[in-house]
Amino acid sequence: MPSNHTTPKPPVDVLAWSGDAVTGQLRLLDQTLLPNEVAHIECRDAQRVHDAIATLAVRGAPAIGVAAAYGMVLAAQYLPNTQDFHTGVEAAAEYLEGARPTAVNLAWAARRVLARAQRTLSDDYNYIRAALLDEAKKIHAEDEALCLAIGRHALPLVQRGGGVLTHCNAGALATTGIGTATAGMYLAHQAGHAFTVYCDETRPLLQGARLTAWELAQAGIDAVLITDNMAAQVLREGRVQMVVVGADRIAANGDAANKIGTYGLAIAAAKHNVPFYVAAPYSTFDLSLAGGEGIPIEQRAAEEITEAFGRRTAPANIRTYNPAFDVTPADLITAIITDRGVISPVNEENVRKVIGT
Ligand code: MRU
Repeated sequence: MPSNHTTPKPPVDVLAWSGDAVTGQLRLLDQTLLPNEVAHIECRDAQRVHDAIATLAVRGAPAIGVAAAYGMVLAAQYLPNTQDFHTGVEAAAEYLEGARPTAVNLAWAARRVLARAQRTLSDDYNYIRAALLDEAKKIHAEDEALCLAIGRHALPLVQRGGGVLTHCNAGALATTGIGTATAGMYLAHQAGHAFTVYCDETRPLLQGARLTAWELAQAGIDAVLITDNMAAQVLREGRVQMVVVGADRIAANGDAANKIGTYGLAIAAAKHNVPFYVAAPYSTFDLSLAGGEGIPIEQRAAEEITEAFGRRTAPANIRTYNPAFDVTPADLITAIITDRGVISPVNEENVRKVIGT
């Protein structure tokens, strides 16, 4: 986190780089073990980073971007000190991007490190490796700052004494700062405001229960866990004054992909006249896509929904459908809270005005 003492500190570091560009390594918090165990994975090559992203040991759009940026540095440690170095860096970007398809931050970060390699002209390959590490560290530091900027825009929206509903984990554990959806909550809590956060459990991998409920409780924020199918009732009972979620990719018209279940939540919020906010940094926007129909949706393994609590919970050989994300159409989103300002109403003109071209 930046040294500014007014910035709330996330409960735990999601990742940390140690050492130089030639021999250094990446340490990742293994989020699959939370909330029961705080343990880490040491990554000494790009494959370890790729696998940690694919298995959700590190997850959340901004965090996998930062992890991939350092993964590029690790890949470069094994490349030859010849012209083949540059072909290898390109291949590494493609390889890391392939770990998960929906969150555009992953490709954005890998491509940014690749671009730095391409414009660093030198015969000294360790000098180029150092440039890659410098770029990864910049992406890392920027991510922390983006969360804080989102939080400053979100803070006035968190009602004192009110209820906030969130889905999945778009918190400190999904970023390297104070989260996106949670950024306003952390700042409101620091300012001494009282409010309650309803955390959707988030089937099938329970990021809401395992991660959001855990990190908010660690921070001393009043958190209440509900299952996904309780959200509509909680909204109907008037317990919630705002819904705020993160995003994995936002198209030019404002359609936003996020964890499966977000779309249903947006429909329920609209029915009950509760504002529905998406919080995301500029790096989550993919302005090359006109609308959400172009966003690739990750399909995940059947076992994620046929097994739970360490045992089989569905009949053998049952056919499954397990999309990890859905797309919420822009007309259901009250506003998108970004580091660059608040986009409202959500349409292409306003997205381009705030995010740029
Ligand atoms: O599958 P996950 O756990 O990576 O899904 C994460 C989400 O859907 C988050 O809401 C999104 O990445 C935004 S994180 C600030």
